[in-house]
Amino acid sequence: MIPYQIIEKKSQGLTLSESEIKDFVLAYTAGNVPDYQMSALLMAIFIKGMTTEETLSLTKVMLESGECMDFTSAPGFVADKHSTGGVGDKVSILLAPILAALGIHIPMISGRGLGHSGGTLDKLESIPGFNVNLDLKTWHDLVLKEHVGLIGQTGNICPADKKIYALRDVTATVRSIPLISASIMSKKIAEGVQGLVLDVKTGNGAFMQTQDDSRALAKSLVSIGKGYGIKTTALITDMNQPLGSAIGNWFEMEESVRGLQGDGPADLMDVTYALGAEILKMSNPDLTQEAAIELQAKTVADGSAFEKLKRITELQGGNPDVLDKLSDYPRAKYSGAVRAPRSGYLAKVDTMALGFAGIQLGAGRRKITDSIDYSSGMYIHSRIGDSVSSGEDMLTVYSNDEKALDQVLAGGQDIFTIEQSPPEIPSLIRERIE
Ligand code: URA
Repeated sequence: MIPYQIIEKKSQGLTLSESEIKDFVLAYTAGNVPDYQMSALLMAIFIKGMTTEETLSLTKVMLESGECMDFTSAPGFVADKHSTGGVGDKVSILLAPILAALGIHIPMISGRGLGHSGGTLDKLESIPGFNVNLDLKTWHDLVLKEHVGLIGQTGNICPADKKIYALRDVTATVRSIPLISASIMSKKIAEGVQGLVLDVKTGNGAFMQTQDDSRALAKSLVSIGKGYGIKTTALITDMNQPLGSAIGNWFEMEESVRGLQGDGPADLMDVTYALGAEILKMSNPDLTQEAAIELQAKTVADGSAFEKLKRITELQGGNPDVLDKLSDYPRAKYSGAVRAPRSGYLAKVDTMALGFAGIQLGAGRRKITDSIDYSSGMYIHSRIGDSVSSGEDMLTVYSNDEKALDQVLAGGQDIFTIEQSPPEIPSLIRERIE
């Protein structure tokens, strides 16, 4: 295998064979192809795309680069939810304990922040001690016993995706239907789930910004899932503004806890329950949508979902007390506010710019080796359609890097478009793909 020839072939828009994809990806995973050649191939795929067959080959090689889990001994339904990524998207942190409290087994393998979007693993790690690197046997036992285990790709689960994902994060090669499809689905198939719901984000804070692209991605994901015998559905949900108000790792953890305590923002809870209903209905086809939502709301009202999050935190090495004492968590040293330059209605939020502002503040990575400052982040105070008054706080920003904070504050007003007449409010749940 000569990497140069494969890069050249893809850069001309030609179709790679299964063995070319396999040889290249496995050689990269083993360290025999350098980052710069994989980066070139990823950019060629990003620009020229992949056929359905190439996408399936890439999924297969990523899947087979590691181990697959077997949950056939689980006494109940085994399922997972995965998002294509957005800003302020903390649904997994709520949904995993909610479904586990209802007896669904959730072997959740999540990712880190990618490009402008946040990642569940980084959010979980904002809890001191939380270990997302459990060995697979410990994780497997945890899922059987507690119904949920929250990990990242270990060296053994889709190691090829783990390495490629980190490279895509810093080479602007995320927004690609075949690359996203293979990345997500290889991990989900490796989990050994029977059911899967995908939250395909659409809008200016999503990797897929138009409804057509989001639908194409949703269809690609669902068809790969079904091809592997997994009950799979996708909801296309809005990402033209952050979900909830909190952006940044601990900030989002805190908002998730409040959601599990019955005090979550309506948009966050609506998306969480809609995705959860998909899984509950897969596990029991007689369940109505209303009943599936009611069941989940009950786990919040009776505290069982929050107790589950605390239990799993403790069993994964984290300190559950921080979840009870949210206000004790250290805050970043510096803070400031972006204020509305005029009165009117909030018409538009540049959601991707908000995601990149989070990186600038220290809440995300610029390069693979960067560490994250969990106490940096933001709260957005208005939603599209809200009326705002001149001088009102639109965004509160926290960072330990004063210069970065000043830069975000200086550019902050450009994130918001304020108009004189009420705008159309984007609908939250756009479409269901089965
Ligand atoms: N989530 C993933 O796991 N992979 C992607 O490529 C995008 C979102």
